[in-house]
Amino acid sequence: MKLLLLGSGGREHALAWKIAQSPLVETLFIAPGNAGTRQVGTNVNIKATDFAAIRQFVLSEGVDMVVVGPEAPLVEGIQDFFQQDEALRRIPVIGPSQAGAQLEGSKDFAKGFMQRHTIPTAAYRTFTPETLDEGKAFLHTLQPPYVLKADGLCAGKGVLILDTLEAAEQELEEMLGGMFGEASSRVVIEEFLSGIECSVFVLTDSTDYKILPVAKDYKRIGEGDTGLNTGGMGSVSPVPFADATFMQKVEERIVRPTIQGLKEEGIAYRGFIFLGLIRVDRTYSCAEVGDPMVIEYNVRMGDPETESVMLRIESDLVDLLCGVAEGNLGTRELRIDPRTAVSVMLVSGGYPGHYEKGFPITGLDTVKESIVFHAGTKLVKKDNGTAMEQVVTDGGRVIAVSSYGADRAEALAASFRSAQCIQFEGKYFRRDIGNDL
Ligand code: AMP
Ligand code: GLY
Repeated sequence: MKLLLLGSGGREHALAWKIAQSPLVETLFIAPGNAGTRQVGTNVNIKATDFAAIRQFVLSEGVDMVVVGPEAPLVEGIQDFFQQDEALRRIPVIGPSQAGAQLEGSKDFAKGFMQRHTIPTAAYRTFTPETLDEGKAFLHTLQPPYVLKADGLCAGKGVLILDTLEAAEQELEEMLGGMFGEASSRVVIEEFLSGIECSVFVLTDSTDYKILPVAKDYKRIGEGDTGLNTGGMGSVSPVPFADATFMQKVEERIVRPTIQGLKEEGIAYRGFIFLGLIRVDRTYSCAEVGDPMVIEYNVRMGDPETESVMLRIESDLVDLLCGVAEGNLGTRELRIDPRTAVSVMLVSGGYPGHYEKGFPITGLDTVKESIVFHAGTKLVKKDNGTAMEQVVTDGGRVIAVSSYGADRAEALAASFRSAQCIQFEGKYFRRDIGNDL
């Protein structure tokens, strides 16, 4: 079959790497892809949100399935776009309808959904510019720290956690005043949850589901989880605290009610559900110490979690995706590799603040014990007058170095050795991914 994957980051390279191993796939296209995805497929110069261009490409190339990597095309309704088009209708899109994508696209919708289906999550209320004063009054009823969330998509920047009431009141006013534009025209204020986080990924055909390997991502720039938040500095899978008892609660209290709730609300959902969970270390109204609660939903795989999760899926991912498309996921087998996978992100100097792009990356082909996923890279012509090409840095997060190990220490050590084989000006990475577990 011919498959088109949308997106261009480390997550998409990891998905492309796994998809390309499938004997079911004859051709893999990635739109737009990056310098890494072209090693496992054919890059197509189309933006993941350019539906008209995607339509034309899918029809002219005879694409049989579309897999959506990032959230933006889903929130913009790519699934519905295909469904409503006579010529595209028969081509499955792996990802939810626009209604389902609200689980990520609107925090207020996600919170309301969890409340309707008694899924454990932080208590909350939603405010608008008209109800600013009530929002401030609500803050007075809470204990610090205060959690403020812009309702809409903000490229991961829409959540503020504030230590003082004064700061929370001021930020609320600024958010509702248009700090994140339309995305913060509604703001969710919620109870702070204390505990340790993990990411659970579910693949569903809207009735049956498979729970993929659990991962933990590391968001802060500095070792020991210090400094500014980033798009993710690495990930590890499995997560020891997400043991059988914990996962049974996740399945019973979160996964099943989520899938059932979508069905009851008439929402078509065929794709990945990413549960951002916290194992709470205090008692809340809907959870006891050690129980899972939902921090957030995303409607796609996580980045950089995918860069470790894909290593641990032993089965043919495309077979599972066909099960999603055909509505018979329950008949497909998910086998999980028992080894540990660790992914370490090499980032540009200065990231997540200001950084330069365009530095040549060398040593990529000297890496032997890890799998190298490109995140922010680009291929350019060498400036020596020849036709030769060169991979250069093209983002804050540049390369994810993923390795297997018998345990975390072994996998991390392998990624660390491989990280030293790769050179570019300003390269930085964390050496402690997974060490807190
Ligand atoms: P999000 O953008 O929803 O992924 O939130 C970013 C991060 O903020 C999460 O990964 C958590 O670390 C943190 N966070 C969000 N909501 C809460 C909450 N209610 N309590 C504690 N931490 C939170
Ligand atoms: N790793 C978090 C995310 O993908 O949103």
